[in-house]
Amino acid sequence: IRDDPTAVGDYIAKYIAKRINDFKPTAEKPFVLGLPTGSSPIPTYKALIKFVQDGKLSFKNVVTFNMDEYVGLPEDHSESYHTFMFREFFSHVDIDPNNVNILDGNAPDLISECKKYEEKIKSFGGIELFLGGIGEDGHIAFNEPGSSLASRTRIKTLAYDTILANARFFNNDIEAVPRMALTIGVGTVLDSREVVVVVTGQRKSLALSKAIEEGVNHLWTLSALQTHPWALIVVDEDATAEL
Ligand code: GLP
Repeated sequence: IRDDPTAVGDYIAKYIAKRINDFKPTAEKPFVLGLPTGSSPIPTYKALIKFVQDGKLSFKNVVTFNMDEYVGLPEDHSESYHTFMFREFFSHVDIDPNNVNILDGNAPDLISECKKYEEKIKSFGGIELFLGGIGEDGHIAFNEPGSSLASRTRIKTLAYDTILANARFFNNDIEAVPRMALTIGVGTVLDSREVVVVVTGQRKSLALSKAIEEGVNHLWTLSALQTHPWALIVVDEDATAEL
């Protein structure tokens, strides 16, 4: 528990930087990092960018896989997760764009796109560390309430609550929010060797309490982390309101 979102971001960035530096990644053995979008990880991204600018960290031998992407939103749309990631992070660090993996929500065959993504993760020997955020309904990536806890990368219809929550990024126009997304599964997250989740703000407090103080269940998919041997949830004071 840290005081506020900035302190949470600083903590996670320091943690990730240490993991990457200790790993000593090379071109032959890169560090495989899973990444989220949303407002919650922005302070972490800012702090990671600062480490790179200060010469304390490099993303040269880091391969990334993003958690999710909207279906049908043009890649260059200001709210696509592709645009978000380059705007908030990738454009400011020394990562090779060829090492960036983001699901293509406009692929002609979405099912095969999801299958290929899982295969590509496997081809790198799996994900070393997955950083995630959660929705107000406790979803991790876009694994909405009711998702199988063994799910893999797939197409998911967004819950109405998620559409409402994300309308703020589309000029509060609910109609403009895509109805579907491609998302890694809960099983995909659980397969990574380590999971770090950022939860900030009071609006996430119910989800946090359901996920860590109640049993594992598919209605609050973050709760699946209870079964993971190496999971860390970093929260601010506001997010602890219901604990
Ligand atoms: C979307 C993303 C999630 C993210 C969530 C929370 O639903 N698919 O991966 O965790 O937003 O966003 P925020 O951090 O802005 O509250």
